[in-house]
Amino acid sequence: MTKIIWMSDPHFQSRGTIDGLNPRARLDAALAYVNAHHADADFAVLSGDLVGDDIEADYAVIAQHLTKSAVRIHPIMGNNDERVGFRKYLTLPDTVMPDFIQFTVEQAGARFVFLDTHKIGSHAGRLCTARLAWLGDALRQQPHKPVYIFMHHPPLALGLPPQDEIMLEEHDDFLDLITGHDNVAHLFMGHVHRPTAGTVRGIPFATIGALSFQAPPPSPAWDWDSFNPPREAPQLAVLHIGQGDVVVQYTQFCEYAVGIEG
Ligand SMILES: [Fe+2]
Repeated sequence: MTKIIWMSDPHFQSRGTIDGLNPRARLDAALAYVNAHHADADFAVLSGDLVGDDIEADYAVIAQHLTKSAVRIHPIMGNNDERVGFRKYLTLPDTVMPDFIQFTVEQAGARFVFLDTHKIGSHAGRLCTARLAWLGDALRQQPHKPVYIFMHHPPLALGLPPQDEIMLEEHDDFLDLITGHDNVAHLFMGHVHRPTAGTVRGIPFATIGALSFQAPPPSPAWDWDSFNPPREAPQLAVLHIGQGDVVVQYTQFCEYAVGIEG
């Protein structure tokens, strides 16, 4: 059995607030919760949008905060991330691609694949031919191992109109590739700051709320100009994976009021 802590979208800033929210307080609360209750996890994942304001300073300082974790954290790229700062300050596995921040982790008879869907200058996601070719190799190398994929951008529309406009652009190429293999067991995505779950071409997927601010449900309708985070507490998830089964336990790790300064 593999136990994973799944966290996403801390939108860390080394100083200041985002719409009255102090993202440092929320990240620290998450790490304290994990250390207190889940220090036995095999690893943790931070599924993108680590920073967003002052890239250099934010990576330098979030790296210091992440050292407080008792559990090894694997970070992946989101739309707000930047590869140079990401590589400079964060700890990455030896298997990381040279040009993109994609890597694999082997754990208890399963392969965990971490993708880089960042598209420079865009909030939408990209998986270029080089990244897709790397993924194809990762799926082919150990065809009998189940593969669990973590990525920032969803490869399907989730019924969240403003966010569906900034999903993964090469969604069909990605889905054609993974359904051409029979070992992809589950997809885990960040980006939308909301928990959703379902299947895409028969493959189960889940998204998760953010460590920082949450996104509203699709009704009543909203757009980026009217965007107003709901008064929902942040969440992480505890994943239990083994013998082909996946359990996702969404967990509130602190009160909504933590980090609210505005
Ligand atoms: Fe985000």
